[in-house]
Amino acid sequence: MMTQASQIPTDPQADCTLCPRLVEFRQANQEKYPDFFNGAVGSFGPENARLLIVGLAPGLKGANRTGRPFTGDYAGDLLYDCLGKAGLAKGQYEKHPDDGFELIDTMITNAVRCVPPQNKPIGEEINNCRPFLNARIAALTNLKAYLALGRIAHDTAIRNFGLKLKDYPFGHAKTHKLPDGKFLIDSYHCSRYNVNTNRITEAMFMDALMLCKEAMY
Ligand code: URA
Repeated sequence: MMTQASQIPTDPQADCTLCPRLVEFRQANQEKYPDFFNGAVGSFGPENARLLIVGLAPGLKGANRTGRPFTGDYAGDLLYDCLGKAGLAKGQYEKHPDDGFELIDTMITNAVRCVPPQNKPIGEEINNCRPFLNARIAALTNLKAYLALGRIAHDTAIRNFGLKLKDYPFGHAKTHKLPDGKFLIDSYHCSRYNVNTNRITEAMFMDALMLCKEAMY
């Protein structure tokens, strides 16, 4: 989908070539894992979404394998389970893009759409991918709130809005009111590492989702 304002697509083409390091990594993964999706992963959810969840980047054997954000990732197990419990998803999440699982009033995207080495995108890659995030946001005409998964997604969002990080410090289960009237809610990322180290628990993630529900309706 193209947004009228920018003519930049809301999602890059799967074979996007903007980031040399990520293209090189993709080519290596195409050889190593020929059955994987191995491309820039699009967004997931309805165009009338009121909430946009912004993750970091596809996981190598999750979204990069299946082609749907967080699908098949460890992080997706917690994310999709909690979205169902919060009434923001319906159907059975079965870890593949054809499972018929649907998001309700919610869309999920990533700050960087291609899998980065070691799960760590660099600043240049976040900047290269930012126009797609902006186009994605501009196309969501019902949008009321964002959920940033982790500090990088939070910082990317705040910079995108032309705001200063010192005025909007990241904090788990914190709601920031933005100048345009929308809300940004922060959560620690629901990654395997954060779950295993107890930085985030299901209860903590549900707290953040409840704040999203307050902000989006
Ligand atoms: N999978 C995604 O799609 N995004 C993340 O941020 C993590 C895993």
